[in-house]
Amino acid sequence: MQYPDFQFLSSQLAQVAQGCYAFGIFEQNDTTPETTHLAGLPFYNDVVVPLIQEAQFTGKQGTTATANCLPTRGKVILVGLGKQEAIDEEAIRQAASTVYRTCAQLHSPSVAIHFMALLNDKTYLKAFAEGIFLSTYLDERFKSKKDTKTTYLKKIDLLHVVEDHPTIQLAQKITTGANLARDLVNAPANHVTPSMLAQTATELAQKYHLELNILEKEDCARLGMGAYLSVTQGSSEPPKFIHLCYKPKSMAQPSSKIALIGKGVTFDCGGLNLKTGNAQIELMKFDMAGAAAVLGTAEAIGAIQPNKEVHFIIAATENMINGSATKPGDVVTASNGKTIEIDNTDAEGRLTLADALVYAEKLGVDAIVDLATLTGAMVVALGTRIAGIFGTDPKLMNSLMAASPRTGEKIWQMPLEESYLKSMDSIIADMRNTGNKKGGGSITAALFLKQFVEKTAWAHLDIAGTVWKEQPCAYHNAGATGFGVRLLVDWLLNS
Ligand code: BES
Ligand code: MN
Ligand code: ZN
Repeated sequence: MQYPDFQFLSSQLAQVAQGCYAFGIFEQNDTTPETTHLAGLPFYNDVVVPLIQEAQFTGKQGTTATANCLPTRGKVILVGLGKQEAIDEEAIRQAASTVYRTCAQLHSPSVAIHFMALLNDKTYLKAFAEGIFLSTYLDERFKSKKDTKTTYLKKIDLLHVVEDHPTIQLAQKITTGANLARDLVNAPANHVTPSMLAQTATELAQKYHLELNILEKEDCARLGMGAYLSVTQGSSEPPKFIHLCYKPKSMAQPSSKIALIGKGVTFDCGGLNLKTGNAQIELMKFDMAGAAAVLGTAEAIGAIQPNKEVHFIIAATENMINGSATKPGDVVTASNGKTIEIDNTDAEGRLTLADALVYAEKLGVDAIVDLATLTGAMVVALGTRIAGIFGTDPKLMNSLMAASPRTGEKIWQMPLEESYLKSMDSIIADMRNTGNKKGGGSITAALFLKQFVEKTAWAHLDIAGTVWKEQPCAYHNAGATGFGVRLLVDWLLNS
């Protein structure tokens, strides 16, 4: 995994290395591409026109055609951008990924990019660079034999684009955070333990001079975090409650204070309500993807240094079984004094988040956003491309939803139907940790969390479906997507 260098060239072909030459081309209609922008380009008549005809290239998004280019001894790649009126950041990101993958197939270490004038728009330039940096991600940490055969891009020449290295660097900082999240989620649970998450936070704190507080089990007990600690009981791995904080260096007051909370269950076997049948226990290393998104965001924010105070909070634990494990029916007390009957030990995420939310609110922040692989029901409702967002503060909800299309990380607002709260009534305690068995599981989970926030603006993202891909798609290979990092960073920088 290596990030290619970007160069801005005001042309000419002589300067362009003997690698590939990539043209971005719009689709005009189902049979013809939009070529009016292209006439006059180098080797338009000799190479591009015949290639369009031969390959019946239409410019449809995601399509490519390649041909040898004798004048440069390289290759020409046509990249379909889709219809001009439908172009957006995500289409550019995906086109960049297509360029990256096609060059790898062609074993080309360099490429010159001609995307008409599109990349003179900063948001598109950023999206293009993000698409490239995300595509470089390759996880060979656990392979004994690494791929040494493929030549990946080392150099990208942007033709006729106004020099703008800061935008490329911004994209690199953001995607480095997303790629860190992918590393954390992809690594198995025998590597990523609560201690390892704490170690990662420690390294970020050193790298970016962030404040760090790691609460051990005894510290959490002193704070009365009975909900969180009930989940940690059955595990041999010590729990780590991680609190990392970025503060702007300038003397000016930060424009706002935000707390981000990530569910950090490094392995969820379900506890005594053991995951059986098709509950996909073998995938439950990804149950810390919220924590990974929060640490990835810390990586990016540490590098970007915006004028906001950001707290990164993770109540990390395994959900395992031993002789001390929580028994279904046990009653515990959370740090806000509420008592919970744990009628299902597999609804553990909300128990860890409950105490994290109480802790976050005590910091006096302006808003709290939590990210969690909280419910299987979320995957049923929205599938693997869209996360659910829950909350009651319109300003917070709107600003998060506005960040979504810019990043291509899709979220959809779900209802917090208060009347469902009743289904969590308990005979013995203030409430149970699960609701109606018949449906609405993502909503009752969100309502449960809401009981632990008193007055601070709060939003909850259920990312259970979006953090993992069985199949490669666009700039993601199979495995972890790093979902949430780009959304959170965009939101923090633009709201
Ligand atoms: N980590 C799971 C949620 C999950 C399941 C994420 C499948 C992705 C795929 C969570 O801790 C869980 O087990 N939730 C239960 C809640 C139920 C017991 C009320 C679920 O969704 O089945
Ligand atoms: Mn569970
Ligand atoms: Zn879980």
